[in-house]
Amino acid sequence: MVLNLGIAHRITISIIKADVGSVAGHHIVHPEQIAVARSCLDKARKDGTIVDFHVFSCGDDLELLMTHRHGENSRKIHELAWGTFKEVTDKVSKPMKLYAAGQDLLSDTFSGNVKGMGPGVAEMEIEERSSEPLVVFAADKTEPGAFNLPLFKIFADPSNTAGLVIDPAMHGGFTFRVMDVIESKVVDIACPAEMYDLIALIGTTGRYIIENVHRTSDKVLASVSSTTRLNLIAGRYVGKDDPVMMVRTQHGLPATGEVLVPFGFPHLVAGFMRGSHYGPLMPVGLRDAKCTLFDGPPRIVALGYNICNGHLVGIRGSEPADLFDDPAFDRARTVANDITDYIRRHGEFMPARLGPEEMEYTTLPQVLEKLKPRFQKI
Ligand code: F6R
Ligand code: MG
Ligand code: MG
Repeated sequence: MVLNLGIAHRITISIIKADVGSVAGHHIVHPEQIAVARSCLDKARKDGTIVDFHVFSCGDDLELLMTHRHGENSRKIHELAWGTFKEVTDKVSKPMKLYAAGQDLLSDTFSGNVKGMGPGVAEMEIEERSSEPLVVFAADKTEPGAFNLPLFKIFADPSNTAGLVIDPAMHGGFTFRVMDVIESKVVDIACPAEMYDLIALIGTTGRYIIENVHRTSDKVLASVSSTTRLNLIAGRYVGKDDPVMMVRTQHGLPATGEVLVPFGFPHLVAGFMRGSHYGPLMPVGLRDAKCTLFDGPPRIVALGYNICNGHLVGIRGSEPADLFDDPAFDRARTVANDITDYIRRHGEFMPARLGPEEMEYTTLPQVLEKLKPRFQKI
């Protein structure tokens, strides 16, 4: 039971995730991995490092959701996450010979911030509102650009979000911070005024990624997403960067239902088998958050919370409301299965397979290298 003491505080919510090994291929996190991660974070809660936490999984990704008072990019919190992933790897993944044990820990030593070291991160430091509903999203077998279309719909499309038209608090629109992951630059674009410029950028989902969204009128932070593309950092195939994102909802921000509705359309995203194919993003409840057919189709879960004095209020303690575990998303799942059947009948032919610039970061170049000497001038 969390008491509402009415204390206004800044609180930071961090989700840090990594694939440190899974059962039966790149399929599902082992319950023992979750248990070890929980015990690490429980220790940190008891010693006051964090306020609250919830450990869960989406496919082969172990997700650490934490609340704390150390702000974004805190060395303490990043070290805690890194140490937790290490301990899970050493105590469970390696002894059990789980597949790809420790995969996302690209370095042996922690360098102060997990960004660029393998794990994915999304963090928001906020002033807790008198009621603070939050939706946490995690996806497997896709990349951060997968959130471009739903974020555009949520914060800029009036046919998705009625509040953009009806609620005076939202009528001034939202400002999108877009990262160019190739040139490592960001740009702020305000909607609706600059909507066409925004689409010109974020339609290119492999390069321009929405990092965060603010309400334009008062700069209130509305959403944050993970943006790393490890292949670009490592210069070789290290899997897709299965992304995470958090969206604050209600009372002058899009309603929870407006935030969920874009996922009723299972749009095509890059990822799927070997991070090399397009497939539909299927919204699922936590029990179905595990990829199978052609290592997919790519999946996404949505965890609903209220933050109360820094604590995660879910259905039972920090157990979340499992928002896609709902017959309202059955049709999206059926459509996703139909699209999967259709697109997989293309085999290894574009557009089912990613374009050549994306395939550069897979294992395909090694195969093509062998053919090089056989090419004759014409
Ligand atoms: C996608 C992913 C999997 C693997 C595939 C082959 O992000 O991780 O689809 O790429 O299962 O894995 P290896 O080469 O490890 O057998
Ligand atoms: Mg994996
Ligand atoms: Mg994964």
